[in-house]
Amino acid sequence: MTDRTTTANEGFAAVSRPNPVEADAPVTRIEGEIPRELAGTLYRNGPNQHVAPQAGVRALHFFDGDALVQAIRFEDGQAHHLGRYARTESYLRNAAENAYVVGGLSVKADRVVEPPVPGHSPNTNIVPHGGRLFAMAENMPPFEMDPETLESKGMWDYDGKMLGMSTTAHPKIDGKTGQMWIHGYQPVAPFIQLYCVEPDGSVSLAEAHDADWPSMMHDFAITENHVIFPLGSMLFDFERMMAGARFGEVLRELDRPMTFGIRRREPGSEIRWFEAPSAGYMFHPGNAYEEDGKIFMDACTYESPANLIASLDGARDAQVGTGLDAHPYLYEFDLEAGTCKETRFSDSTCEFPRIDDRLVGHKNRWGYAATAEPDDGALGFARRITKYDRQGGASVHRADVDGQWVGEPVFVPRHETAAEDEGFVLFPVFDATRDETAIEILDARAVDAEPLARCWLDTRMPFGFHGNWAGR
Ligand SMILES: [Fe+2]
Repeated sequence: MTDRTTTANEGFAAVSRPNPVEADAPVTRIEGEIPRELAGTLYRNGPNQHVAPQAGVRALHFFDGDALVQAIRFEDGQAHHLGRYARTESYLRNAAENAYVVGGLSVKADRVVEPPVPGHSPNTNIVPHGGRLFAMAENMPPFEMDPETLESKGMWDYDGKMLGMSTTAHPKIDGKTGQMWIHGYQPVAPFIQLYCVEPDGSVSLAEAHDADWPSMMHDFAITENHVIFPLGSMLFDFERMMAGARFGEVLRELDRPMTFGIRRREPGSEIRWFEAPSAGYMFHPGNAYEEDGKIFMDACTYESPANLIASLDGARDAQVGTGLDAHPYLYEFDLEAGTCKETRFSDSTCEFPRIDDRLVGHKNRWGYAATAEPDDGALGFARRITKYDRQGGASVHRADVDGQWVGEPVFVPRHETAAEDEGFVLFPVFDATRDETAIEILDARAVDAEPLARCWLDTRMPFGFHGNWAGR
């Protein structure tokens, strides 16, 4: 059934509507031509509840749902779509009972089972590293899956070195060293944890830090020598959480500017705190790098934590509200002076900022994000893809297509030694008039031109959140 988008909330419901089908089929409907150089896998992940609660899937918070990991493989101008659920304990228990017996952020379990099963849905990101593949969400350890078959392997506890309750879904893999840095946060002290996973999978650093307050800290950033923890102007209220409060009640606005904890990557380093001029919150930095004794970081920043919290609370029944409106910001940290400057560089809203992953932690010029004009009603999920120039050049947009929504862009270099924007931008497109999903491929040097290819998937893929590329 076609679910036409007449309002942003209806559009949001349409792109995030579950489709609990594990695809395994060649992609046969291709508009244009898939570039022959594209050899590898685009992994994507997102909530996709397989057993609906009695209240219905639209009652679920949009962060909630089993993780249905998708792998779209490209080779010789062809594509194949594979989808497999992460078979966590909670997924298996719901399947065995054929009932919603493990509750989530906004819907409690339909009935109680003993012993209780923790709600583990690694539905936020899917990250290849060192020949392994990890499905991730910020309320649990990484969940390992087979990179080829997507078979579930189970949770990984950093070889017994985990210090906190969980780690996040946003590791940063240094494009030059191959080290995977990842942080965790929790509402009890010490609030922050940091790990470094070497390319061979060994854990070379596991350290904990305290902070002035516990904040939801969805993502972080690295540079060549430093790690940056963004402490948002919101409090993660442990007591409310333990009392079973709704997600939007667990978060509370805090009358403090955004504050950034910066430490060196060497073991045993202490955090220095840098206060920004304004309050705010960020889910996602784009990239950070060092130059002339300074750290430069771009991010998508929410200027009103109160509006954001209200939107996150109202996300049930796909009512995303109006608070999901981050703007692109640049932050400049002077390591000598201990200061932080901030600059908002566009009135457009943005989310899901990405770069050429070979430059994570190092100086980059180009960035890509899913964006919307302030008045186009997109409310935090996007109409278009924008390519930014950190050297101040004009932004370039993929043209809007009526009835289409776009998700997080992933850059893929044309070959190993290609220049920074010499390659392709891959992202999901949902077409409401067709009720179908495609993977679109743009030339990164011509994102405003017609796509090189649009690959329509026979199994509709709810957008979910994040994805990554693994070359062959
Ligand atoms: Fe994220």
